[in-house]
Amino acid sequence: MRKSFDLYFASSNKNKYSEAREILSKFNLSLGFFEFAPVEIQSHSVLEIAAQKSLDAYVSCKKPVIVEDDGLFIQSLGGFPGPYSSYVFKTIGNAGILRLVKSKRQAEFHSVISYCDGKKPVLFQGITKGVISKKQRGKGWGYDPIFIPRGKSKTYAELDDKNTISHRYKALGKFARWFDMRKSSGR
Ligand code: IMP
Repeated sequence: MRKSFDLYFASSNKNKYSEAREILSKFNLSLGFFEFAPVEIQSHSVLEIAAQKSLDAYVSCKKPVIVEDDGLFIQSLGGFPGPYSSYVFKTIGNAGILRLVKSKRQAEFHSVISYCDGKKPVLFQGITKGVISKKQRGKGWGYDPIFIPRGKSKTYAELDDKNTISHRYKALGKFARWFDMRKSSGR
């Protein structure tokens, strides 16, 4: 019999899903995977992109669903690649970013989780500040090998506790507390 979940995570990225599932399990929420390759709107705002993605995901999934949109914002590059992080990763990748970042290495990783159950999407944002490393370290996915969160000396890829400090953890934590309160109030 098909297992039922509290809600679905719509994405084409299994790495994001497995981190989200592990994080939400700590909040006693079970997360199913809904394979979904969204057509991303062009926008300077990860909030706007996430909201539209969740509306589109709900049309396909027809069940309460969350989607996530992320961006790596590098201060000395005026916030680049920000909402274009996915495209930039596919084109110049981590090696390209390391060539662009010179002395000032401060950066922020943003996550926006958007929940949709057919009504207006509800958004939750998590931000982790840090710096861009001087070279790639560790074997993680995406930008993990070049992002060192504040207070740590290791990159996301080298850390064992990424899922307790990441941008994703912060956004999902806010979502989980809201979802729980909503359930307790019987809505
Ligand atoms: P997206 O547009 O939400 O898929 O994410 C923007 C880019 O950031 C993609 O290339 C993702 O792979 C990357 N990304 C998002 N979250 C993480 C993370 O936790 N670690 C490393 N890369 C990430």
